[in-house]
Amino acid sequence: MAEIQVENLKVVYRGVILALQGVSLRAGAGEAVALLGPNGAGKSTLVRSLAGLLPQYDGRVLDGRILLNGQESHHLPALKVASLGLTAILEGRPIFRYLTVVENLRAAGHKLPPERQKAITEEIFTRFPRLYERRFEQGGYLSGGEQQMLLLGMALLTEPKILVVDEPSLGLSPKLTEEVMRVLDELRRDKGLTLLLVEQNAKAAFSIVERVYVMEQGRIVFEGTSQEAQADADVMEFYLGGAAAGGFAEAKRYRRRKRWV
Ligand SMILES: Nc1ncnc2c1ncn2[C@@H]1O[C@H](COP(=O)(O)OP(=O)(O)O)[C@@H](O)[C@H]1O
Ligand SMILES: [Mg+2]
Repeated sequence: MAEIQVENLKVVYRGVILALQGVSLRAGAGEAVALLGPNGAGKSTLVRSLAGLLPQYDGRVLDGRILLNGQESHHLPALKVASLGLTAILEGRPIFRYLTVVENLRAAGHKLPPERQKAITEEIFTRFPRLYERRFEQGGYLSGGEQQMLLLGMALLTEPKILVVDEPSLGLSPKLTEEVMRVLDELRRDKGLTLLLVEQNAKAAFSIVERVYVMEQGRIVFEGTSQEAQADADVMEFYLGGAAAGGFAEAKRYRRRKRWV
């Protein structure tokens, strides 16, 4: 059992900026769920909340709660949350740029017994042959796609039950985006992971999740299956149409915002 439940979560930065205004979301054990929405919607704030990282950003939970496997976690520090089986890959590809691939992996797996670390590292190199080829290269010299694979490898070394990934497709070509989505889907199935995929690229997310939430201005404005989302004219116009064109249709979003709230 590895389930995420977010109930009416309100989050504030610096005591005044209300970034989440009562967000509820659920991902069942082994389920793949996407959180979609434009820049500034509050997606990364939810990721930070789940990972216990709000204090690092001068943020805090005002109201509501998060349950991981039924255990309240929103007041726990990051290390404690990690020990409950949740691993978050934050946006912006936060690898150690001056460490090699091997060193990055060693750092990520430092808490594991050596033989476990070795076995998982071998698995990573089998899954990602390209990372093996580049194992002595500094992280900063890898391509965006390779860095994303490295981050997934680093996540595997924490043996997660719940994986939260913040905008893995950002800055990647359509082909690499497809590859990253395929890998995420494979990992979820092979490991029985619960996956919360945070994306602006709705089209990419639809390919591997059963259900989606759409967020705007700190609120969930749509919740349904991938099929329902794709059949919804508004969601299509705002989120899939925009994404297919390579980004959000800003003008349309602002013109029609009133219909959401
Ligand atoms: N550390 C911070 N301090 C103050 N405001 C922040 C901070 N991080 C994010 N915000 C604000 O919170 C809102 C949601 O941001 P974010 O969660 O990063 O959205 P998204 O990931 O959907 O782009 C935005 O208005 C953003 O400016
Ligand atoms: Mg973000």
